[in-house]
Amino acid sequence: MNILLTGGTGYIGSHTAAILLELGHQVILLDNLSNSNSNVLAKLKTITGYQIPFVHSDVRDTQTLQDVLKSHDIKAVIHFAGLKAVGESTEQPITYYSNNIQGTISLLQAMQATSIKTLVFSSSATVYGEPHYLPLDEKHPTHATNPYGRSKLHIEEILSDVAQSDPEWRIISLRYFNPVGAHPSGLIGENPQGIPNNLMPYIAQVASRQRSQLNVFGNDYPTPDGTGIRDYIHIMDLASGHAAALDYLKMQSGYIAINLGTGQGYSVLEMVKAYEHACGHEIPYSIAPRRSGDIAICYANPALAYDLLNWQASYTLDAMCASTWKFQQMLHQNNTI
Ligand code: NAD
Ligand code: WQD
Repeated sequence: MNILLTGGTGYIGSHTAAILLELGHQVILLDNLSNSNSNVLAKLKTITGYQIPFVHSDVRDTQTLQDVLKSHDIKAVIHFAGLKAVGESTEQPITYYSNNIQGTISLLQAMQATSIKTLVFSSSATVYGEPHYLPLDEKHPTHATNPYGRSKLHIEEILSDVAQSDPEWRIISLRYFNPVGAHPSGLIGENPQGIPNNLMPYIAQVASRQRSQLNVFGNDYPTPDGTGIRDYIHIMDLASGHAAALDYLKMQSGYIAINLGTGQGYSVLEMVKAYEHACGHEIPYSIAPRRSGDIAICYANPALAYDLLNWQASYTLDAMCASTWKFQQMLHQNNTI
């Protein structure tokens, strides 16, 4: 099947492209390169043997999208394109709503105009807000606490309305928990610009001595070691979840939101320990104040993904850390930092 991946040169898109090609699909990547680099295409060629078609465009350019959907005979779209930094979204809400919401509306218009009505959307566990109970299942009330999260929530509502309006639409929102890790080749992974917002890339930069120490945001949470607990999921598991979602949509129309997580939470200090094991040396850290807006504990109930998609996470925490470390070392070797 020919599949368009918006935001396809990004972290999750590039790994999903690799998995889909492995499964025999054709993929076309579209990205405005605002948070990724086109050199990922050469890396994907090394990994998969394919020169993947790439369109350098913004998803808000509806006409280009429409042309791409038609000319590549696309059958389904995975919509990764969007901005994702929570802090930045509070400073630039208009930019976030424009990229994320306007971008999605533009995509939906192009898909409707070309009668391509199968869509997988990158949502986030952030739509649950402060947990009322754990683990988080899809019935948990939604409540976003920042413009980024609200953009995801609004998009989910839009997608649900669209599917209700026309029975031909087949749409899944995948609510990702905390994606980490890298492709086993070490060629592609997460390499954020500037100071990393997220834990795993930050630890990786401390491990490779680009940063002197990790700041652990709070050790007074109601958790066994006082640090925040999250559901980290290996990027290759997350990527294969998209293939499973597309398979499901072959049989099922309508709209549904599904968690992609492992069901297992790890604390910040457990992550530090696991990474130390992977890289073979100590990760210096100090305890800093809590980060505003953080919650204590968040992990998924992944049962729905298992029941409907026949998917479950299989990679261990050690594999997440080892692949991140391999990618980080290869970045250094290639002087691409
Ligand atoms: P990423 O930044 O690596 O990838 C997103 C890609 O979209 C980038 O390549 C960027 O250049 C592109 N992009 C952004 N705005 C665009 C636009 N208007 N037009 C075309 N391209 C555009 O991020 P990622 O981690 O791969 O995330 C992919 C999706 O998954 C995002 O929608 C994100 O919100 C969502 N998500 C990510 C996480 C996470 O922790 N990584 C968690 C939950 C959900
Ligand atoms: C994990 C834990 C921090 C950095 C964010 C977004 C969410 C989703 C995934 C897109 C927390 C602690 C972190 C550091 C630390 N993205 N931490 N020192 O906050 O669960 O989720 O990314 O949808 O929307 O909010 O992930 O990796 O930032 O933090 O101590 O330098 O690590 O306090 O407990 P988070 P994270």
